[in-house]
Amino acid sequence: MDYDILPGVFDILPENKKEGWRSSALWQKLEELIRTTCQAFGYEEIRTPIFERSELFLRSSGETTDIVSKELYRFVDKGERDVALRPEGTAPALRLFKDQDQEWQKHHRKLFYMGPMFRYDRPQAGRYRQFHQFGVEVLGASDPEVDVEVIDLLFTLFSRIGLKGLKLELNSLGTLASRENYLKGLVEYYTPFLKRLSLDSVRRLETNPLRILDSKDPHDKEINKGAPSILEYLDEPSKAHFEKVKEWLTKLNIPFVINPNLVRGLDYYNQTVFEVVTDQLGSQNSVGGGGRFDSLLKMLGGPDLPGFGFAAGLERVIQTILKQEIFFLPPKGPELVVIPLGEKSLETGYQLVRTLRQANIASVIDFSKKKLSKRLQEAHDIGAERVIILGDEECEKGEAKIKIMESGKELLLPLSEIPSYLSLETKLPSLSQESKRLSELSKTKSLQETSSDLANLSKKFDTIHQNLKNLSVQSMDTNA
Ligand code: HAM
Repeated sequence: MDYDILPGVFDILPENKKEGWRSSALWQKLEELIRTTCQAFGYEEIRTPIFERSELFLRSSGETTDIVSKELYRFVDKGERDVALRPEGTAPALRLFKDQDQEWQKHHRKLFYMGPMFRYDRPQAGRYRQFHQFGVEVLGASDPEVDVEVIDLLFTLFSRIGLKGLKLELNSLGTLASRENYLKGLVEYYTPFLKRLSLDSVRRLETNPLRILDSKDPHDKEINKGAPSILEYLDEPSKAHFEKVKEWLTKLNIPFVINPNLVRGLDYYNQTVFEVVTDQLGSQNSVGGGGRFDSLLKMLGGPDLPGFGFAAGLERVIQTILKQEIFFLPPKGPELVVIPLGEKSLETGYQLVRTLRQANIASVIDFSKKKLSKRLQEAHDIGAERVIILGDEECEKGEAKIKIMESGKELLLPLSEIPSYLSLETKLPSLSQESKRLSELSKTKSLQETSSDLANLSKKFDTIHQNLKNLSVQSMDTNA
């Protein structure tokens, strides 16, 4: 029996030195930034099941798309239902909307989601069979300004992360009517090339000619260079919508390039479509993409309301973060280890740890009966800043020893004072931590950025210094 992990999927570890993008600290930090950015834009989180009725995806993505025809994880469950693991989040979000009552649907909804998606694709760097998307969907608004606000959200997130050099590609697929005309134009253009087109594209000429523009085949790509542009086929309302989107992006200083061959891999789009690409991930260069889907909700049996959204691939975002050597501060692990030395102190130590955890001071207790030097070494290895050593004798007296790992300094404190002493200490960012951060920064950032960080840090140090001074004055007062 082979228990190895399946192809195209991966584990995320607490820390992964070989493949840094699979370290959970980075994922947590990114997820936190996504949540705060979405909240800042007034989006609310939804969570949908990871499997749905297959029909939902067949109907929405389009039966001829790769996502449905080749990549769907589809099975029949024990109740004879045709079920699929979700390959994307838009159709489930719209299904969720459709399932709510009229009162809920009445409001213009701004939704976001994060979670695993599944596509049975050929595994390669940047392309997985289980991957993670963060996506947003706005339902009930057709204004071009909404398209821009959604794109702005994605770029605000990228700038909060510190990502640079991402290219926004933009196109318009127009209304259904203008697209019908365009499809006729495409068939006319490609028919003389039937013998030179790839087999897939010959098939697409019958099923969905738009998709040929998306082909990765080198011969198809050559032929595509002369294909008519969809922009020439846009009707007046579509042109006006697209002009407004471009005008607003320009006003907001979000640079873009028009790519008339950008059609996206799903059938539900109309009007604005976009993709964000990076030149740092090889062939899997799209970190996110989306567009407008004004007839999808109605098609799925919901009210006739327009929508706009996007999804970004978290693996690709994290891989780009690492490629650009952005300093992404991982959340801190337990900063404190309690080491009880005897039977009595074990109980007291556990009570102490419970109190500390209630005060949100991350702490672990060492239950092992190993030698003290070994236990101190282990505490050092997990990065603990302090250890509390509890001997039975000291416990009897109601005291414990706190050892500061970096300086080796020790302090004997009454047990009852420890929680307040530690919460004071942990509230003030420790100087040693800040200086570690600084040395990391200078490794990964340009000098110019580091010097501005330095200025910010020195301001922070001044405040800490002042706080410490105030504290010592206060404690002198209480002593007096
Ligand atoms: P999509 O372009 O199929 O759009 O996927 C969005 C992003 O998911 C891609 O740009 C990529 O970063 C990531 N992605 C896709 N497939 C994989 C894979 N196999 N491995 C790793 N990452 C992948 C959608 O899914 C639409 N639902 C977006 C949308 C939302 N449109 C409107 N609203």
